[in-house]
Amino acid sequence: MNLSSNPLVCLCASVTRKAIIHVIKNRGARSIGEVRRLTGANTGCRKCTSKIEQLLAENSDELYQLPVFPND
Ligand code: FES
Repeated sequence: MNLSSNPLVCLCASVTRKAIIHVIKNRGARSIGEVRRLTGANTGCRKCTSKIEQLLAENSDELYQLPVFPND
């Protein structure tokens, strides 16, 4: 597979975009915590949080609301 079509989303845990989309679509992950538990992504520096949140928003059948931070 072409690496550009399946880039690493979480560098710390070497978790790819495809692996995260898989758990969203096939294993019912609906939160960053569930993606973390099912893939091991987002268990290090957590710089990948926004990328995972974006994948949740784009690939979940249900309406996924990005968290709102009061100071943003
Ligand atoms: S890049 Fe995902 S936890 Fe560091």
